Amino acid sequence: MCPRAERSGRARALAVPAAQGVDRVLITRARLRRRIRELAAQLSEDYAGGEVVCVGALNGVICFLADLMRELSVPAPVELVHVDRFLEGGSHTVDMPNQFREGLRGRDVLIVEDIVDTGVTLRALVDKVRAEAPATLKICALLDKPAHRQAEVHLDYVGFSIPPVFVVGYGLDYEGFYRNLPFVGVVDSAVWPPALLERPKSGSNLD
Ligand code: IMP
Repeated sequence: MCPRAERSGRARALAVPAAQGVDRVLITRARLRRRIRELAAQLSEDYAGGEVVCVGALNGVICFLADLMRELSVPAPVELVHVDRFLEGGSHTVDMPNQFREGLRGRDVLIVEDIVDTGVTLRALVDKVRAEAPATLKICALLDKPAHRQAEVHLDYVGFSIPPVFVVGYGLDYEGFYRNLPFVGVVDSAVWPPALLERPKSGSNLD
């Protein structure tokens, strides 16, 4: 797509009511689709002849996981994990209360993540999966935000590396809003962290 057409596509994307409060499109729907096809082609090649159990953390991963798995040409059973995050004494703790429905022992497991920021959530998920003794464990993240990393994690497949901005859309939310946007957008960096953001209001200047 030529830059001009892409620009007007971005402006149109921001005009939808569900995007009120989003300042700009960072990754268009078309770029997401293209990159996910590339990732799926690579994964299908790497797991050819076998299967890959995709483990996803709810809720942010829903769009990415649904699109990625439909592009895979190998069998791909799915396990979903609920994640509760708390801020305790200034540090970030993670609880994952549910058990995997099927055992992961001896299986090839791929953790599918929406976004890796500090890495604390992914580290906890890696520990939970490792405790099941899979044969192999790899990680595929749609978005990598390395600037704030606190926990050591190795990402085997990355969709896009992005700057330290707060993004929404394509499954990612701010207080439950914006998950249904078909693109990844940026919420005003001037008011980041997100706790300072207001909820979207009707009648914003993005109408
Ligand atoms: P981490 O534990 O700091 O790596 O954060 C991972 C989780 O925080 C993700 O699975 C998201 O749910 C959430 N998160 C981190 N950055 C963003 C963002 O920019 N937008 C929306 N959610 C985010």
